[in-house]
Amino acid sequence: MLNHQYTRYSLATRGSGRGWQLLGFTFAALAGFLSWAPVARAQDSTIRAIQNIFDPLSAPAETLYQISLLVMAVCAVIFLVVGGLLTYAIIRYRRRGPEDDHEEPPQVYGSAAIELAWTVPPILIVVMLVLVTARTIGEIQHPKMPETAEQVRIIGHRYWWEVRYPKHDVVTANEIHVPLSSRTNRLPTQMVLESADVIHGFWVPQLNGKTMLVPNYRNTMWIEPYATGIYLGNCTVLCGQQHANMLIRVIVDKPEVYRKWLESQKQAPVSDPQVAEGQQQFISNSCGTCHHIENARGATGVFGPDLTHFSSRATLGSGVAPNDDQHLRSWLVNPQDLKPGCLMPNMQLSSNQVDSILAYLRTLK
Ligand code: CUA
Repeated sequence: MLNHQYTRYSLATRGSGRGWQLLGFTFAALAGFLSWAPVARAQDSTIRAIQNIFDPLSAPAETLYQISLLVMAVCAVIFLVVGGLLTYAIIRYRRRGPEDDHEEPPQVYGSAAIELAWTVPPILIVVMLVLVTARTIGEIQHPKMPETAEQVRIIGHRYWWEVRYPKHDVVTANEIHVPLSSRTNRLPTQMVLESADVIHGFWVPQLNGKTMLVPNYRNTMWIEPYATGIYLGNCTVLCGQQHANMLIRVIVDKPEVYRKWLESQKQAPVSDPQVAEGQQQFISNSCGTCHHIENARGATGVFGPDLTHFSSRATLGSGVAPNDDQHLRSWLVNPQDLKPGCLMPNMQLSSNQVDSILAYLRTLK
């Protein structure tokens, strides 16, 4: 799927004659159609759960991977040289018998050759590593961004992620949708990272390095994924009892699927008279003090996740459980069962109230 762009590019430019060009265009259009058409509308649900930096699928992660390989290669050479010399010296000059006890090895003082050998190469190696690292830092911190770059603002809360799309006036939580990029047609996503309470850490290893979310400070980072799928990550700074369940899902989709998702998130929920009772229970039990829902009077809170499109999300409690009725019911009965220590208290809802609120939440797609 990824090389679809390359296919079209190379076929259209390689042929010199008009006939070839025409054939190229036809073939490329056909190939393009075949590769896009059947899957254009579907979200890619491949789970990308690799939690190490050696399988990068995004631009900054790839750069970090390359520099890590270089540093490791340099360190491996140093290790082999030092370890080899040490092993050689241990074996070659080991104690050979009682006669060695009375003899001192030759003592060398002020050898210019040895002094130079252990100062000049290390300095050169360090200077080389400093230069390469400085260049990499520059590339990652001050990237050239195309105008089309997407912008996402992520705010860490104990223990969930608020996700805002300032260009599109979209707000969601915990599941971060971004467009797929390609090397020929760049579509990176710039991220501003902030915190509402304590320090959190944002890390999806296949997309980029780790970045902290610090109260009263704005950090930035960017990603440019080259493969669709659902990338998993974690909060990486111990931020409290539910730190380990502050999970991240970055959903990378083809640009048209991503745009469709944006469109759906911009729609206000349809008010369904069948769940009016649930909406009323939601408000009268103060759920709206913490949660915002578009078009629901009294649901204007900002302490908890925005629920306007809650049922379009695959997980609940920032990834702690799948967003199915069984887990949602358990959450509504007592959130402390699924996520002990989370900031949503047990609201002491009756079973009827749970049922009607659940039905209401299911209409928020
Ligand atoms: Cu947030 Cu750990």
